[in-house]
Amino acid sequence: MNKIVINSVYNNVVKYIVSLKSIVINNMDIFIPSLVGGIYTVIRSKAYVSTEEMGEHYCLLGPYKEHCARTEVEEGEFSPMSPLNIAVRKIRDKGFKVHTGTWLVDGNPQIILFDIGSATWKLDDFKSELWETSHIGIPSGDLETNDAIVLGYMVADFIGEFHKAANNMRSGMDEPPHIVAHFHEWQAGVGLIGLRTRHTDVATVFTTHATLLGRYLCAGNTDFYNNLAKFKVDEEAGRRQIYHRYCLERAATHLAHVFTTVSEITGFEAEHLLKRRPDIITPNGLNVKKFSALHEFQNLHALSKDKIHEFVRGHFYGHYDFDLDKTLYFFIAGRYEFGNKGADVFIEALARLNHYLKSSHSEMTVVAFLIFPAKTNNFNVESLRGHAVTKSLRDTLNDIQQKIGKRMYEICLSGRLPEPDEFLRKEDTVKIKRCIYALQRDGLPPVTTHNVVDDLNDPVLNAIRRCQLFNTVNDRVKIVFHPEFLSSTNPLFGLDYEEFVRGCHLGVFPSYYEPWGYTPAECTVMGIPSITTNLSGFGCFMTEHVADPMSYGIYVVDRRFISLESSVRQLAQYMYDFCRLNRRQRIIQRNRTERLSDLLDWRNLGIYYRQARMKALHIVYPELAPADESGVGRFNYPRPISEPPSPTSSRATTPAPSIHGSDDEDEVDEEKELEELGVASVDGSSR
Ligand code: UDP
Ligand code: G6P
Repeated sequence: MNKIVINSVYNNVVKYIVSLKSIVINNMDIFIPSLVGGIYTVIRSKAYVSTEEMGEHYCLLGPYKEHCARTEVEEGEFSPMSPLNIAVRKIRDKGFKVHTGTWLVDGNPQIILFDIGSATWKLDDFKSELWETSHIGIPSGDLETNDAIVLGYMVADFIGEFHKAANNMRSGMDEPPHIVAHFHEWQAGVGLIGLRTRHTDVATVFTTHATLLGRYLCAGNTDFYNNLAKFKVDEEAGRRQIYHRYCLERAATHLAHVFTTVSEITGFEAEHLLKRRPDIITPNGLNVKKFSALHEFQNLHALSKDKIHEFVRGHFYGHYDFDLDKTLYFFIAGRYEFGNKGADVFIEALARLNHYLKSSHSEMTVVAFLIFPAKTNNFNVESLRGHAVTKSLRDTLNDIQQKIGKRMYEICLSGRLPEPDEFLRKEDTVKIKRCIYALQRDGLPPVTTHNVVDDLNDPVLNAIRRCQLFNTVNDRVKIVFHPEFLSSTNPLFGLDYEEFVRGCHLGVFPSYYEPWGYTPAECTVMGIPSITTNLSGFGCFMTEHVADPMSYGIYVVDRRFISLESSVRQLAQYMYDFCRLNRRQRIIQRNRTERLSDLLDWRNLGIYYRQARMKALHIVYPELAPADESGVGRFNYPRPISEPPSPTSSRATTPAPSIHGSDDEDEVDEEKELEELGVASVDGSSR
């Protein structure tokens, strides 16, 4: 049986990515480098399992962006007689530029990148075709949509040619080539509209990762979920000048043979805003890499935490009066959508946590990092100075230490013990004093690491001002706003995002609008506990599939059925409870969190994409077996995961001061763990 699957994907940051998969004849993949954001993570992380499953019959399609392609694509031609190559040649014969090769990510999938600029001269023709077939008019000034139109019709042309080539190759055979094209997001959806209105014999799937209107409505302080059924969608889209985009999204949704969303909550949104209930939910997975040593992720936590310690020493110099051994690192990160990402609720809850910790005379300090890219004028002087003076102290002490060692060596060689005053010389004391003076500062440690351009109107800074979280000595919650994504070349942290997450204790993502939410999922596979909400796809997924998420270090804040004030309180309480865990409990909790990573692995979640493809194929080619939907919508992991792997004997129960690395920990005593965490067991027995 010949099956070809074509994936069209849009990425919010760098325009579109389209992916194309095939099962029989040829496969290609497309990628775009230097992207951030959830949709990019979906496509990138899924590439490995898709290639593993479909091999050469999987391929990605997308727009060509030279600066990205240069570093992320290895260009090359497909084998001359393959239908992919024939189709590429046909498209090039039309005067369009197309780049082919492999995407340099895990799995090395095949890709085809379309140079939009090379087909812009056809824009009017494409627009006319769109108007004649669907009556959707595109205003000339909307460049992003114009690009989507050009790319969409290039893709539709290409898939049409691909179908012909594959069909010719099969002449004489009974079965036609079976092709599935999977399009992601409204921008890529134009290709789907093109295929369907041209009646190309291809099965189509459309996935929306967030609805266009939903994102706009939520960003505007709307009581979104309570009014979903009441929105006048055309009017709302028109008011925001996105009516034509909305029409494209809605047309793709309804023309697709199979429509999917990434979570139930987005399905609910789509049902009301796009007027179609998803046929299948296709949750987002990750390419989970297991370490050969069972507790390697715990060691990595300790290593990365040391690097964050170094940052904190520099940032809080002069006010470094808290014990790093009793300091916890919390963080929030993502696109700078203040309300949608729940930064408002986080800051408010941090203020409450500050109060709880102070009034309970807790010894713990929390450093809360907020990582949201905003417009800046580079790092601020105070931040850089902090790192310079601590570095200077460290260098001076290293230097003195070496000299002392040398002197002691010489004295001991001469056969006597050094006198105490021979250790530290006067000039050394002076040097140290100088460094200590340099460590004094008049003001408080800064709240931001960078100069934020619109400081006065910045929503994070305003919330911090309102809550008076100014990093004073009395504050038990300290704030660091890092208005830029992390990278290993960052002079302050010297950590990339993954290392940073590993070094933290808790990720806090109290989102209001979050169709999926990769950030808590990434925490989970790294064994870092996180807080999510029942309005995020990830939070709903975990609640559905894990019997007691909290006992696995997944805290779900209710942002749907209780008031905002109650949500803030609940979040503050979760954070406070976390602060009361001791180190041993935190280590146990991390072990438990990491055990959920199988649940988020594409190897397991890929089943939903497979189901979507099979369902679409069955609609177009009824002679094919219908999709096996057993397991779709219900595959309940928690018990197998929480049960001890074989052999079932439990490990020694004597509490030991350090437990992270013992080999006997592959035998898990669930009961004992829950007891140590002070958590009630799933069956309700109290601990
Ligand atoms: N991210 C990153 N660098 C950072 C912070 C975040 O690369 O400094 C990535 C993170 O790994 C995640 C993505 O940004 O994959 C955010 O995805 P999420 O689904 O949480 O939010 P979205 O962008 O879809 O709104
Ligand atoms: C990991 C390391 C341990 C370390 C611990 C600190 O488990 O393997 O050596 O003691 O992290 O945990 P904490 O929660 O205090 O950062």
